[in-house]
Amino acid sequence: MRLLITGLNGFVAGSIVAHARKTWEVHGVDITETTGLPANVTAHQLDLMDKEKVAALFLQIRPNAVIHTAAIANIDVCENNKELAWKVNVGITETIAELCKTMGIKMIVCSTDTVFDGIKGRYSETDAPFAVNHYAKTKIEAERIVLAASSKNIVARLSLVMGMPVMGKGNSFLAETIEKLKKGEPVKFPENEIRTPIDVVTLGAALTELAGSDFGGIVHLSGNTRINRYKMAFHLAEMLGYNTSLVKGTNSNALAGRAPRPNDASMENVLATSILQTPMLTLEEGLYLTLNFKMEELI
Ligand SMILES: NC(=O)c1ccc[n+]([C@@H]2O[C@H](COP(=O)([O-])OP(=O)(O)OC[C@H]3O[C@@H](n4cnc5c(N)ncnc54)[C@H](OP(=O)(O)O)[C@@H]3O)[C@@H](O)[C@H]2O)c1
Repeated sequence: MRLLITGLNGFVAGSIVAHARKTWEVHGVDITETTGLPANVTAHQLDLMDKEKVAALFLQIRPNAVIHTAAIANIDVCENNKELAWKVNVGITETIAELCKTMGIKMIVCSTDTVFDGIKGRYSETDAPFAVNHYAKTKIEAERIVLAASSKNIVARLSLVMGMPVMGKGNSFLAETIEKLKKGEPVKFPENEIRTPIDVVTLGAALTELAGSDFGGIVHLSGNTRINRYKMAFHLAEMLGYNTSLVKGTNSNALAGRAPRPNDASMENVLATSILQTPMLTLEEGLYLTLNFKMEELI
């Protein structure tokens, strides 16, 4: 069984690779060159906006499932580059969804907790999304496309992803925070943003499990701890033995020049807990797992 992961060099994809290579023939694709891959994983380099090259790649690999992580995941970059964000987050998803439909391939797309407006909190899969920024608009449209293409497709809405990069690169706030705290530099986190962070190792395991499952539809992948981002950073610093007075609170919606964020985008994980064998964890359990995770353990 062959799995294709898009956005191979990204934070989330690194963890999927680590888990999937146990049971799948793993292929990954990214716009930049991939280095430091473990054995038995094949990297392909291309711009997913090039439809012809993407179609040729699908014909070459003939995957049984695709996990689509590639995106512009930075909220402010999307807000300031609306057209490009639409082309990448919606256009590429459309290309891949069409190919998957034609070739009978199961597709999983990574969406986000920020598709919600953040007023109610504790969102379940039946709650209606409402975008407060352009990133969320692109993700809501991407969700619609993937769900419309096939009933076996999956929209995995990810909470804030916490952890150390499993492979080389990765846009990890934890790694950045640890670096700053080690140097005695302050770190700022918003108090207004309530989230249910999921650790990157659990997330990779859950997405891999979903790729091999019969489930179709929307599922929320989130941790068991509901917490604001300032308190989260404070606890992480405390658990790691760093000086907690370096962790400062901010209000992300009061900062000039930033795209709006939903305040309470916490998500329920009742469905994930019932359909997956991968357990959802607390913040503390997730931190322990991500700090101690070794890719070799999964060979
Ligand atoms: N990380 C989180 O906390 C979080 C939370 C909720 C949802 N998500 C979603 O989960 C997914 C993965 O997130 P992530 O944090 O792993 O993102 P990431 O680290 O930014 O990884 C995305 C990868 O996609 C690649 N990519 C972008 N445009 C491409 C193109 N045209 N062709 C080929 N590759 C392209 C990027 O390459 P370059 O970097 O070289 O452009 C990058 O390696 C995203 O869809 C994101 O929206 C993430």
